[in-house]
Amino acid sequence: MRDSIEHAVDLLRQADHVVVFTGAGVSKESGLPTFREAQEGLWAKYDPEELASMEGFRRDPEMVWAWYQHRRTLYGDVEPNPGHHAIVELEELVPRVVVVTQNVDDLHRRAGSTDLIELHGNIYDFKCLDEGHRLKLADLEGQAETPPRCPHCGSLVRPDVVWFGELLPAEALDRAFWESRQCDVMLVVGTSAVVQPAATLPYEAADHGASIVEVNPNPSGASHIADVLLQGPSGEVLPRVLGELRRQKGSL
Ligand code: APR
Repeated sequence: MRDSIEHAVDLLRQADHVVVFTGAGVSKESGLPTFREAQEGLWAKYDPEELASMEGFRRDPEMVWAWYQHRRTLYGDVEPNPGHHAIVELEELVPRVVVVTQNVDDLHRRAGSTDLIELHGNIYDFKCLDEGHRLKLADLEGQAETPPRCPHCGSLVRPDVVWFGELLPAEALDRAFWESRQCDVMLVVGTSAVVQPAATLPYEAADHGASIVEVNPNPSGASHIADVLLQGPSGEVLPRVLGELRRQKGSL
């Protein structure tokens, strides 16, 4: 691992533009289960792929709303971990850092990442079904009904996250591809890199000359194109990389 950390630091030291592409694993040390891990408690019998879909919402809007409410509570109760903080610190050491995340948990923003592309939306954003009015939690306050109704048009409100079978927000996706084609290094952190179209980003980066550094305790869909594999939890590995990068940059 020490050799590979050295190799990763070497690549990052020379980079002007880094894209950090993250998935559920980056939030693991905050205490959140990854997407593909079993759900706990009351929700254990439900398949998230069933709940996170328009069909699921149409079938039982109240239940889907309650599931998202439960997840907002879970996310609100945890804190960004040393992996999220190391990604923020990278901004001090590399001229341009863009974080592209598949997570909806808001932890990168809470940690302080300043250039964030959320490919799958954010669990604290909402939109209404009929008109697509964009709403925040504060817009829905005081409503007893679940799901609440849009204050502008009265239609049902849903979380503004990408559900199974839905397209990713075009602007976010276009920018993620553009940044991936431009970057010198892509850090692929805590993602199984199997869900399309996001899983194409590391390939796009590699095809355009970027070095790929993966941080994951397990192999992923991107491992075989990685120049460096850092096998371990991102909450431990990333602070080590940043510590070494800071030391080397400081002694330049
Ligand atoms: N540190 C880093 N990575 C970890 C850690 C950790 N401590 N623990 C687990 N992982 C890795 C796993 O090895 C796995 O590769 O995190 C990854 C989590 O994979 P998924 O649960 O598939 O999450 P993700 O890749 O984010 O899924 C992508 O799928 O269904 C959709 O919308 C959902 O955004 C999600 C998308």
